[in-house]
Amino acid sequence: MDIVVSGIRPTGNLHLGNYFGALKSFVKMQEENQCFFFIADYHSLTTHPTPADLHGNVKTVLVEFLACGLDPEKATLYIQSDLPETAELYLLLNMNAYIGELERCTSFKEKIRTQPQNVNAGLLTYPTLMAADIIIHRAAKVPVGKDQEQHLEMTRTFANRFNRLYSVDFFPEPVAFNFGENLVKIPGLDGSLKMSKSENENNSIFLADSPEVIRKKVMKAVTDSGPVDPGQPRSQGVINLFDLMSYFSAPDVVNHFEGTYQSGNIRYGDMKKQLAEDIILFTTPFREKMMALAADESYLKKVAALGAEKARASAAKTVREVREIIGFKSF
Ligand code: TYM
Repeated sequence: MDIVVSGIRPTGNLHLGNYFGALKSFVKMQEENQCFFFIADYHSLTTHPTPADLHGNVKTVLVEFLACGLDPEKATLYIQSDLPETAELYLLLNMNAYIGELERCTSFKEKIRTQPQNVNAGLLTYPTLMAADIIIHRAAKVPVGKDQEQHLEMTRTFANRFNRLYSVDFFPEPVAFNFGENLVKIPGLDGSLKMSKSENENNSIFLADSPEVIRKKVMKAVTDSGPVDPGQPRSQGVINLFDLMSYFSAPDVVNHFEGTYQSGNIRYGDMKKQLAEDIILFTTPFREKMMALAADESYLKKVAALGAEKARASAAKTVREVREIIGFKSF
């Protein structure tokens, strides 16, 4: 039985990338591990410092966690800001995190490009906060998508550095994990490599999207003017469509469209129609559960309170030991 930690930022509804990159693994892992899954509301402030409805966004993700099958009795489901111990460990880790290594982080460089008007210290130290989230429960496994691989590598660096500097064998080395598969990257509908909530709204399909919205978005997905000769590279939009189909459609459906592509007879419109219906079939049960859960405020309150209590017991123990290791003593 491993200790497992992961989190998702509350910056809108969860999309199919969040599901296949993380949530699907969360649901499987809760059965046989000691799992901590949280909503990363501190982290969301690095890109959205003055959110219009922070609490509403947190509620959305909590509802989506539960609708996807996370069980508050089996796993610890909590909200990051309900665990101020994380902030203390973050502060302590920052003392041994070097500007150079933080500046080299790919996600930081990307944020400099995408939000040049707000390159804040929280963005720079995003990886130390994420490391604190993980090692505060002394986790071994972290179910995440491929985009988080570098952050996990940095977490290992910070954990090892702590052990070395204070001559202890306290923090384990956590590894990124996607259940039974390689780390996943779900592509966008707009021909971009990654489905992402920060891209334009036609990039992503959300678990909460209605069938009409899903049909509209998929029909607008980027393709090209037709099949290329075998051996020639396909356009990114078409690669993405086939990639998405491999997640949502039956293998014989994928083979059928692969065959029509190979023979030069594919009609992208037919392929998109099929893909949209298969995605709708997949998301409908989640959407129905979400609507019921969103109305049950008292249940959500109970789930959050139980999660905070369980998470704090684990985190307080780690922080107490870290203080002792570093040498803080009370008079
Ligand atoms: P966030 O909120 O961007 O994404 C949550 C999870 O969804 C995965 N994901 C994807 N997976 C596959 N294909 C995609 N297109 C795709 N888009 C998103 C992400 O890899 C992630 O697993 N830094 C984290 C939140 C976090 C965290 C942590 C995670 C904070 N502290 C501690 C693990 C452990 C983030 O921004 O995820």
